[in-house]
Amino acid sequence: MHPGDTLHSSDTLRPDDTLHPDDARHPDDAQHPDGVLALRNGTRHGDVTVPRLGFGVSGSRDTRAAVTEALARGYRSIDTAAVYDNETEVGAALAGSGLARAEVFVTTKVWNVGRDRGDALRSAQESLDRLGLDHVDLLLVHWPNDDLEPCLRTWEAMEQLLADGLTRAVGVSNFRPSHLRRLRGLGGTVPALNQVELHPHHQQRELRDVHAALGIATGAWSPLGRGAVLDEPVLHAIAQRHGVTPARVVLRWHLQQGTVAVPKSDDPARIAANRDLTGFTLDEGERRAIAALDVPGGAGRIGPVPDRVDRIAA
Ligand SMILES: NC(=O)c1ccc[n+]([C@@H]2O[C@H](COP(=O)([O-])OP(=O)(O)OC[C@H]3O[C@@H](n4cnc5c(N)ncnc54)[C@H](OP(=O)(O)O)[C@@H]3O)[C@@H](O)[C@H]2O)c1
Repeated sequence: MHPGDTLHSSDTLRPDDTLHPDDARHPDDAQHPDGVLALRNGTRHGDVTVPRLGFGVSGSRDTRAAVTEALARGYRSIDTAAVYDNETEVGAALAGSGLARAEVFVTTKVWNVGRDRGDALRSAQESLDRLGLDHVDLLLVHWPNDDLEPCLRTWEAMEQLLADGLTRAVGVSNFRPSHLRRLRGLGGTVPALNQVELHPHHQQRELRDVHAALGIATGAWSPLGRGAVLDEPVLHAIAQRHGVTPARVVLRWHLQQGTVAVPKSDDPARIAANRDLTGFTLDEGERRAIAALDVPGGAGRIGPVPDRVDRIAA
């Protein structure tokens, strides 16, 4: 696939190939935690690919320790945000890892208190300063705004940051179909990725169809439902069948769906286990059983409703 090509669902949902733990790395394999997904607006800065499994740091008790552990365990994608107030710790872990900058995919997000073009530009630069980096790989607008004008100004700033090389790709987070259509109506750069709450209780099927139609990759936050989904008996049954944990079943499900998942953990054993996703494949029946866990009407949502997020910013 070439950068700039539209992503089709067939690109992200490949047939189940059984993988063996001893398999060599499969950089472009949709079924592998080390696999990558091409992001469409990589055209400006060459190939931009995001690892299919990343590491989230929202609410980490000790971000530096968690990121250091994650990098040591092989994660090569870190998801932070200005509002998490831990970009400095992420930067310190990256600097201390001994890894080359190009080896780690770094995502951060512009918070939505600033609605002016200048606010967004400033926010991104401050994030870079805290991270100690001269660019990130993906910069997201953290939440949508229902007013068209601020949305337009923020997106103009994102395009400027992309053009200036301060980020290799730009995207959004928590955008609903209406927000995405509005952004498309502006006629500019298509977001590379929309990171949204997505787990077995909140599967976002309509939104994922819109993503496929618009060529936007789907990012999953709270991919484990913050642990709440892991008590589902059906996940325990599937886990038992494969001799793995329910968390590994859920993360394997994300890989097989083609979503880019960023699970968070402070626990070294879980950090390692959450990445151990080869050696088993969910069959059609198991995927159907997980599909049935979706709670209708969006009632399985555990995070804020995007349209009401200004209340968070207040
Ligand atoms: N864009 C947005 O608006 C947005 C919003 C929320 C989150 N995010 C991103 O998404 C990332 C992940 O989301 P999240 O932290 O809300 O939820 P999550 O990754 O679904 O769940 C994290 C919770 O699950 C526990 N956990 C992790 N691995 C486990 C395992 N193997 N077995 C049992 N429990 C396990 C963790 O506890 P321990 O730490 O004790 O292991 C933690 O309490 C965040 O860190 C952030 O980067 C983005």
